[in-house]
Amino acid sequence: MHLRNRKAPKDSVHHPVFARYYARASVAADAHAGIAAHRAELLTGLSGRVVEIGAGNGLNFAHYPAAVSEVVAVEPERSLRQLAVEAAMRAKVSVDVLPGTAEALPVEDQGFDAAVASLVLCTVRDVPKALAEIRRVLRPGGELRFFEHGLAAERGLARVQRVLDRTVWPRLMGGCHTARDTLAAIREAGFEFGAYRSLRVPDPGPRTPTSPCVLGVAYRPRADLV
Ligand SMILES: C[S@@+](CC[C@H](N)C(=O)[O-])C[C@H]1O[C@@H](n2cnc3c(N)ncnc32)[C@H](O)[C@@H]1O
Repeated sequence: MHLRNRKAPKDSVHHPVFARYYARASVAADAHAGIAAHRAELLTGLSGRVVEIGAGNGLNFAHYPAAVSEVVAVEPERSLRQLAVEAAMRAKVSVDVLPGTAEALPVEDQGFDAAVASLVLCTVRDVPKALAEIRRVLRPGGELRFFEHGLAAERGLARVQRVLDRTVWPRLMGGCHTARDTLAAIREAGFEFGAYRSLRVPDPGPRTPTSPCVLGVAYRPRADLV
């Protein structure tokens, strides 16, 4: 019912080496870097229909509250998507895993109460397009829950992030960028912020180019009749 007639190319995102690395590293980070707790915080209080963007291996699925009636999880990378399908089978809420990209979400207009973006806006090819798609598929007043790493407030670390983004980082990390200003992008896409906070991951622990994070909620304006 939610399927939209716009097909994403089957393997529009192909990062097999990164995918193998992420499948292992993400599980370790959930357990040892406090990420699982951030996922739980990100999803707390959600209800109704949810679309998750770039769901990876499905580590959020276990944290959806029972009030969520359905999750449509979009993931373009084939092997991560297969792991997400397996995670969906273990989830306590209904999760449907689809191929597709954030820039062309394979779901209908205004069909969702909430969208979830965790550790993915760093990686999508076109952030404004992805956010415009999220806005399209949310009902007016619907919420975007985000947990993203991004641009450091400290000038020294921000400089390092920019150098990494121009050189090795995206190639090594499946297209990830460290210096994106996610809050600015969400604001520019026309969302209205609810509560959000900056955090450092891991905390305590070593500061890395992906340590500066933001976690919170923004809304599609209620009067938005796009
Ligand atoms: C760092 S992983 C995060 C996965 C998951 N969201 C999580 O919280 O663990 C980034 C994910 O974004 C996906 N991705 C890459 N390009 C994308 C795009 N254009 N649209 C949607 N997802 C994308 C990758 O395949 C990968 O699953």
